[in-house]
Amino acid sequence: MNFRDINALMAQRQRAFLDVSALAGETVYGNVSTLWKDMFASRSNFLSAENFNFFRHPSSAAVIGVGSQKDRNETTVLEEQVVPTVVDAHDIPDDVIAKIAEPLVGSPPVEPYRGNLFSSVFLHNVPPVWRVVQAVKQFGPTGRPLRVCEIGAGFGAGALLLHQLLDIESYTIIDLPENLYMSSIFLPTALGRSHNLVDPRDRETLKCGAQLNFTLPSFTDALDVRPFDLVWNRASMGEMPGGTAAAYIAWIKTHLAPDGIFHFANRFNVPRTNGAMRLSDFGLQHFDIRAITPMVRFARPTNQIHSEIVAMPARGSGNIRPDYLDVIGDLTACGFDPQTVAFREAAVSGNLPADVTSAFDVLAAIFNTSSLQHKYDLLQNPQSQSLGDIKPVLLTILELLGGAEGPALVRKDEVLSLNLGYKLEIRLRGLYAEIEAKKLLPWRQTLQPFASQSAQHTRMAEILVEQSNPAFSTRFMRDLRVAS
Ligand SMILES: C[S@@+](CC[C@H](N)C(=O)[O-])C[C@H]1O[C@@H](n2cnc3c(N)ncnc32)[C@H](O)[C@@H]1O
Repeated sequence: MNFRDINALMAQRQRAFLDVSALAGETVYGNVSTLWKDMFASRSNFLSAENFNFFRHPSSAAVIGVGSQKDRNETTVLEEQVVPTVVDAHDIPDDVIAKIAEPLVGSPPVEPYRGNLFSSVFLHNVPPVWRVVQAVKQFGPTGRPLRVCEIGAGFGAGALLLHQLLDIESYTIIDLPENLYMSSIFLPTALGRSHNLVDPRDRETLKCGAQLNFTLPSFTDALDVRPFDLVWNRASMGEMPGGTAAAYIAWIKTHLAPDGIFHFANRFNVPRTNGAMRLSDFGLQHFDIRAITPMVRFARPTNQIHSEIVAMPARGSGNIRPDYLDVIGDLTACGFDPQTVAFREAAVSGNLPADVTSAFDVLAAIFNTSSLQHKYDLLQNPQSQSLGDIKPVLLTILELLGGAEGPALVRKDEVLSLNLGYKLEIRLRGLYAEIEAKKLLPWRQTLQPFASQSAQHTRMAEILVEQSNPAFSTRFMRDLRVAS
């Protein structure tokens, strides 16, 4: 498509958007959290044709994500620098990196990466999309081009990447108007596939029969679609009001093919959303859950860590206990990863040995009380032996948060030498540094880069400590559900 075609599409989309928006009544799907209302208020929306040509350049401030901010400071620069190292950690084969072609629609600033060229925000999408591709190959339907639905697609980076890595018959996006406007111009322009804006007055558009289909949330229940092979939602349902996310998940349950998969990667307990407080609030326990893993994308050391879940339609009532699902979600949010592998596998398989059940029960009790002291007492209980390495780490965090840091300082070398995984290690080092800085101890030593892969994370942590920003303790208080 040339610039004139893009401009013609934009003019047509702008008119169509005005038209269908007037028909979009209030439904649970269209509810917008305060977080997103504020985001829309802070950026440019519904760009004109001239500005759309630069919509992915940071100067337009039209896209949200790493490398898209208009104002650059040391932290935003570090965030961009960390992206290639996070991608490196995912062993994505060279031929996959070579196959991806970032379109230059919207003038993104690109840099070389492994013989290819990418903008930070686009490259940042590669690992999580690669994970979706792996999940489809492992659990999804085979032997047919896929019918895909994405809820909350941003400007469409993930959608574009999926088209380059999977054989896709049709792709339907449900999103709020401000983002749907961008994706419904970006994707047809970049992919050159047939496209359709859903208009409830035209029954044919409700069938989502084009290669690319775009719909406002209010028309979700009116869609007249064949079942989807893949429905996915990433970094989005956790940012919606809880009732809205649960309504989408109930809708997904009735719109998946029997061998289709729902790929979910979200956080919860997010301020200014009135959103899901725990994983079970989304209603995921009504599916057959095939895998639960911490999500791979991680820009700032204090970002909430998302739970990534592969779910399939359940034959009965679902294979996982909601309280155990919540324990896994809460441990993941805190940064635990290698320590939870056995728990995650046991919960998904339904094969729960007595020591694992005992660990789940004590952890559920720990996350269910908001009292720091009560959590600490539960960890003194002999039943907590079944927690393995999780126990000394939780004890340490609670002591550091509770101002009883003596034992935590004695245990420091021991606890930091456990196989924590780099997310939890940087958080724990950050928490130590924060507490030690208050006591004028040499916190810099604590934050010495512990792995070259995370040098930028270490520097971000240093900045927070230098600014006396209690980001690590605030993060752990929230993730451990301690009353503030
Ligand atoms: C942080 S962005 C994530 C975009 C993309 N999934 C990614 O991971 O880069 C959150 C997305 O959720 C969408 N969203 C928020 N509330 C929504 C709602 N009620 N219905 C549909 N989408 C919504 C936003 O418009 C946005 O596209």
